[in-house]
Amino acid sequence: MATIKAVRGTRDLLPPDTTLWNHVESIARSVFARYGFGEIRTPVFEATELFARGVGEETDIVSKEMYTWEDRGRAESDNGQSLTLRPENTAGVVRAYIEHHLDEGGLLQKLFYIGPQFRRERPQRGRYRQFWQIGAEVLGPPFSGSDSALRDAEVLEMLATLLNELKIKGWRLALNSVGSAEDRKRYSVALREALVPVKHLMGEDNQRRAETNPLRVLDSKDPNDQEIINNLPKIADFLEEDSRAHFEQVKAALDACGVPYDLDPRLVRGLDYYTRTTFEFTVPDGSGLGTQNALLGGGRYDGLSEMLGGPKAPGIGFAIGEDRLILTLQAQAEAQEPAKLDAFIAPMGPAQNPGALKLAQELRREGLTVEVGDGAFRLKKSFEAADKLARRMVIFGEDEATSDILTVKDFSAGEQTKVPRAELAAALKVQPSD
Ligand code: HAM
Repeated sequence: MATIKAVRGTRDLLPPDTTLWNHVESIARSVFARYGFGEIRTPVFEATELFARGVGEETDIVSKEMYTWEDRGRAESDNGQSLTLRPENTAGVVRAYIEHHLDEGGLLQKLFYIGPQFRRERPQRGRYRQFWQIGAEVLGPPFSGSDSALRDAEVLEMLATLLNELKIKGWRLALNSVGSAEDRKRYSVALREALVPVKHLMGEDNQRRAETNPLRVLDSKDPNDQEIINNLPKIADFLEEDSRAHFEQVKAALDACGVPYDLDPRLVRGLDYYTRTTFEFTVPDGSGLGTQNALLGGGRYDGLSEMLGGPKAPGIGFAIGEDRLILTLQAQAEAQEPAKLDAFIAPMGPAQNPGALKLAQELRREGLTVEVGDGAFRLKKSFEAADKLARRMVIFGEDEATSDILTVKDFSAGEQTKVPRAELAAALKVQPSD
């Protein structure tokens, strides 16, 4: 009988990998707690309209990638409802903010989530149809300080701290401002005009978007479109004084905290709700993600609550692709030399085994990491094992046992020295590079 497999683009997470998933999540929870975030869990499916209005009809996510179905009404008189598996969590968080009147206390809301999202994308390494996001959102009424540039910088500084605590190496932060809703309107007009003479050279989707939502043309991944896109007007030239000043404040606060960033004037991100600050963190090629090098993305969404019928509630947030974070950690760990033991003790015959074990006991009590061979091994076998496992080998023969002078072979220096037993622990603690 044919076996049943996990659906294309979905996967099982098994031990020992799940240990790493739990480790990542517990570090994220500990960082979020230090920055005053509380957890929110929203439903995995929502009304389709939430994403159509929030994320935007012309985005790839809404126009091509959603799992949507018509949910039957229970009685004949009940109307059905179009439902969608959430492709992202920001719209759901803002819906919950509005629904539970979280603005009423007048305080800033700092919320984080960890959970699966669903997009019908072409599966490949680092891109799945069910994937996990670790995300956070900061939002509130304007008088709570929710539109302050300080919030943007705090979120970015928190991300730098989180990636560093997770020991992700070589990350880079790409930063841009897409301006206020008004700036974007003026920019869209300019883009639409600039696209008139060239849009016929682009694919069908872009020809339509050039009319309906020209900003989304910039998301095109088609290599043939890139030259046209590179010659289009840039959003930075359309920012009014307010947006420009806000962006300057974000950068100044990042500079004060020592968070490095690269300015990327093309970073508009593929969702319609963004205003002002947008950002992405990437990892270098060879970090296990193939072409999917965006580890996380986010930005400000000052008008999203109003787009969903709620009160004015500026906000900023991000979502980390947890699958990609795990792939990166695994690839970076593999590229690293496995940590070596401080010493391998090689007894020169079975009669030396007890004495060798006693020497290992002494050294381990000194805090050293030690492995002991077996005197029945041939010297060559001890040597090979020691070379693989440890930085140094301690030869423990009859002479060494009686004289208390030990022979230490240092693999990286390629030299052999005699060390008195009383000084052995200290000698083994010296790193070869010291
Ligand atoms: P996004 O850029 O669509 O933003 O997704 C954020 C991250 O989720 C990406 O950088 C990537 O690491 C991961 N991701 C996206 N699609 C997939 C996939 N098919 N497979 C694996 N990982 C994937 C958002 O979702 C916004 N809600 C972020 C945000 C929060 N903006 C403000 N607040």
